[in-house]
Parts: sequence; structure tokens; C-alpha cells
Amino acid sequence: MNINWQTISKETFLKDYWQKKPILLKNALPNFPSPIAPDEVAGLAMESFIDSRVITNSDNNWKVAQGPFEDFSQFGERCWSLLVQGVDNWFDSVDELKSMVNFIPKWRIDDVMISFSTPGGGVGPHFDQYDVFIVQGIGKRQWQVGAVNKEIEHIEAATDLLHVPAFEPIIDATVTNGDILYIPPFSPHQGETIESALAYSIGFRAPSSQELLSGIADHIIDQNLGLDRFTDTVINNDTSGFGLSPANITQLQKQVLDLVGDKAQFEHYLLTRLTAATRELNVEPLAERIPADYGNELFNSEIEIQKVLGVKLAISSDEENLTLFCDGENYPLSSQQVEFANKLISCSSSETLILKKHDFCIENSQLITTLINYGYFFILDEHELQG
Ligand code: SIN
Ligand code: CO
Repeated sequence: MNINWQTISKETFLKDYWQKKPILLKNALPNFPSPIAPDEVAGLAMESFIDSRVITNSDNNWKVAQGPFEDFSQFGERCWSLLVQGVDNWFDSVDELKSMVNFIPKWRIDDVMISFSTPGGGVGPHFDQYDVFIVQGIGKRQWQVGAVNKEIEHIEAATDLLHVPAFEPIIDATVTNGDILYIPPFSPHQGETIESALAYSIGFRAPSSQELLSGIADHIIDQNLGLDRFTDTVINNDTSGFGLSPANITQLQKQVLDLVGDKAQFEHYLLTRLTAATRELNVEPLAERIPADYGNELFNSEIEIQKVLGVKLAISSDEENLTLFCDGENYPLSSQQVEFANKLISCSSSETLILKKHDFCIENSQLITTLINYGYFFILDEHELQG
């Protein structure tokens, strides 16, 4: 799926707008058929494993109700919005929307959130910490978007709902089917629904320094690293005071920096974290595990397998220590497995992957059996295995 950029080019977008300025791309997806219907979104919001919320506003009195929901009649006909996160993990057609932003690396994408809103509904004026592309599927909304402002303050409109004060819009437009609104982080925005609307928000992720530091610290503890202790190089002659010298401080700080500065460990941590699903996946470990020796047959019968929607895989760049990461777990790889592992990484969940004879080796067979047993891949026609 490609964005029809109309008056600008993708290059201009990346240079002048991405992370800098909001832009409304009118009719960027001409005749865009909404991949899912409002009742399917409502159905998802009834599931306990789905992150959903309803935001209501009556006379500027804002409220947030957290899902799952049993029914929506309590909210009436007007002035509410249902937001459902991670819909791309459940609908192929929604997952596919992410291909329109394939000019941004995949690891930067978080999820596709769907909002369904009734006339007068919206989430109110706010900003997000992440970039978002809002694709209008059904209905009409009036959007106002302001320039990026990192100084903007929050107002607590309700529990779990932060708003911002009135802002000067640089976009004030009616958004309809096939329009895409790009909003960078810290750009205040609000959309008010004119006609019942369904929109898809492709949201991005950008770890903060604080998250990275606490994440790498947890990783170091999990891996039982960094157990070496401070050792004296020179004893300070002046023992009258507390005696923590500038040299001590430098040495202690270096102890930490050396640990955090280990590139291979840092990459290991990043790939663990970034491949781990942030929202529920449709993954079910096999009740009856397939034994490792079935692997041979898997590669000998042109069996078709498929990756479960939303499962993320990546290989480390450390050639000395090749590792495949899948949903936050890691599997050591030999160099002869790289070609096969790359097939597992790049295959799309909406297509089948045929296991070929020439990819067979014991290690690949063990790897794919493990991933199938954990439920990350599934065999399309199990009968073929019996033969
Ligand atoms: C909405 O569609 O109402 C919320 C999307 C957003 O503001 O990011
Ligand atoms: Co927003």
C-alpha cells in the first residue's frame, strides 16, 4: 500500500515534515476501503487481552472508561470515542496498513490503534510523545493541529486523560475517507467527529534515555554481568575527610560506562526488547509438541508454514556471536543458518513460506520446530506431515 503524496514527495516529507511539522495529505489513499468495520472494532474491545478505552465528553466533562466492554449502548449516540490498541496483531488487513510507512525502519513502528467515534466525540486537545499517521477510514472529522511545542503544559482533564491548553492551529481541516494526517511528537492536536468515524493511527516508538538505562540495567542483572568491583589504584594520602577523590569518581563512573558501553551486550538488550511484543499476540504454544525429528519431514515435503501476525524477528549484527531474536527470546545461530533465518525474518504473515530441501540442516530443523512449538509459526496443512 502506497501513499499518494500529491503535492509533496516522500523525500520532502522526510526532510521537512517527519518529526518536525504536521501535514494533512488529502486523498493520499484514493477510494481507501476501510479494512475493518466498526462492529469488528467493538468486538475486539470486548476481549480482556485487548487494550481498549472509551473517552466520553459531555459539556466538557471528560471521562475515561477502560475496557473490556460488554456493550456500548450505555454511551449513547453522541460524544464518545472508542480507542483500541494493537489491532494489527489481530487483523491481516490492518497489519498491512503499516506497509504505507515502509520508508521508516520497522523497529520504529509500535502498533495500529483504531478509533471509532460518534458525532461530537474525540479525545480532546492533547499531544503525543510519538509520531503518528492517522488514516481516515470512515466518516468525517474536523482536525486542528498546532506546531511542535516542547514547552507545552499538561492539564489533567480526567483520570488517565491529559489535555493541553488552547493552541493556535496551523492545520484546521475536515478529514474524510483516504486522507492521512501526519502528526509529529509534541504537536498539539484535536479531532472532533462530524459524522461517525473510524480511523487508523499508525503509532511509532522512540525509547527515552531513562527507559534505555533502566532496561540495560535489568538486562545486565538478568545476564549476571558487571560483578567486578572497585579496586584501589592509588590510596589517597589525605585520610582526614571523606576522601572520595575526583580520580575515584572518574574510575567509578568508568566502571559503569564500560559495562553499558559493551556494544554486543547493548545490541543483545535492544534486540531482546525491540522484538518482544508490546501487546498480546495471537500465539498459542502447541498442546502436542512436534518432535525435533519431524523437522526433516518439514523440509522434505514442501510444507507451507506461516508466521503469526505481529511476531517480530531479527538477527544480531555481531558475526562472532550470531543470534536470532524472536519475541524477546534468543536462539544461537551458525553462519550457515543465516539465509534460512533471514527468510523467517522477512516473510510476511499474510503469505505462506515453503520450507525447501536446500535449507535443511539439523540446526534449522531444530530452530523451526521450536518456533512452531512455541506457536510463533504454524503449519498450514498438518496432514502432509503424516505421509
Ligand atoms: C483519535 O483518533 O481520536 C485519537 C488519535 C490521536 O489523537 O492520536
Ligand atoms: Co493524539
